[in-house]
Amino acid sequence: MTAKMPSLDKLLAGNSAPGQRGTVWLVGAGPGAVDLLTLRALRLIEQAEIVVYDRLVGPDILALIPAGALSIDVGKTPGFHGMKQSQISQLLVDLALAGRQVVRLKGGDPFIFGRGGEEMVCLQQAGVTCHIVPGITAATGCAAASGIPLTHRDLAQSVRFVTGHGRDGKPQLDWESLRDARQTLVFYMGLTWCDALSEQLISFGRDAQTPVAIVERGTRDDQRTLIARLDQLAETVRTYQPQSPSLLIVGDVVRLYRPDLPQAAATSTLTPRASKAAIAS
Ligand SMILES: C[S@@+](CC[C@H](N)C(=O)[O-])C[C@H]1O[C@@H](n2cnc3c(N)ncnc32)[C@H](O)[C@@H]1O
Repeated sequence: MTAKMPSLDKLLAGNSAPGQRGTVWLVGAGPGAVDLLTLRALRLIEQAEIVVYDRLVGPDILALIPAGALSIDVGKTPGFHGMKQSQISQLLVDLALAGRQVVRLKGGDPFIFGRGGEEMVCLQQAGVTCHIVPGITAATGCAAASGIPLTHRDLAQSVRFVTGHGRDGKPQLDWESLRDARQTLVFYMGLTWCDALSEQLISFGRDAQTPVAIVERGTRDDQRTLIARLDQLAETVRTYQPQSPSLLIVGDVVRLYRPDLPQAAATSTLTPRASKAAIAS
């Protein structure tokens, strides 16, 4: 017998324990590969009553949601916003106030450019208990899957995770602080403004020949890694047209990338069922 999925209206209306508030878990789903989920994330997904998820959560991970749970897609594609952030936060609050246990599943780590902070504050203000489950963020996932270390004693002593998306969507960066050649820069959501990004970095003193890796769909079976020079970044993007999600890694550590070595093979192609068995064994 297949489990019947409850409706959202029913879940918002009914409260099995009147007056009792539910809990929201903000859970990082990692960069894509199903076996890069944490065990805590896996357990919460497998026991979920309601899962509210984003565009970046891949189908292999969604396949772990129990058949009887309600899955709500609030995904945003670049340039198209399904639900506004305020509506998503309100939905989480309403579900918790109706006594529901909610898994809010987000790509990567919920606190790295994932608006997890905004959702947490909203829940706290409504008096809802909220737990955070960290995930592997795109920077570390893509770096590992491409064999590009983000730090290296000879090449980079620090790493910066950067986004150009401020609240109004425009890049507002302290470019001066990004010029240090021994600092690796990782740009999230950098594809659409890579022209301005490379021009600004070069004009503020970063060497035009600095290597850049564009990691597309990092850790997934169809990952692609492109290498460019900083002054040829925009041209490379136009020629090879990497799609979202893609991450930019800027810095001398990119010289260690070896396309002839199979780093990506370290990200397994286990199916969700097989990965459960592997984790259990
Ligand atoms: C809204 S941010 C969310 C980041 C997420 N919270 C994290 O910790 O990875 C989305 C951006 O993350 C990057 N990203 C996420 N997953 C990725 C992947 N598998 N490969 C490459 N980039 C990825 C892309 O730059 C994408 O535009």
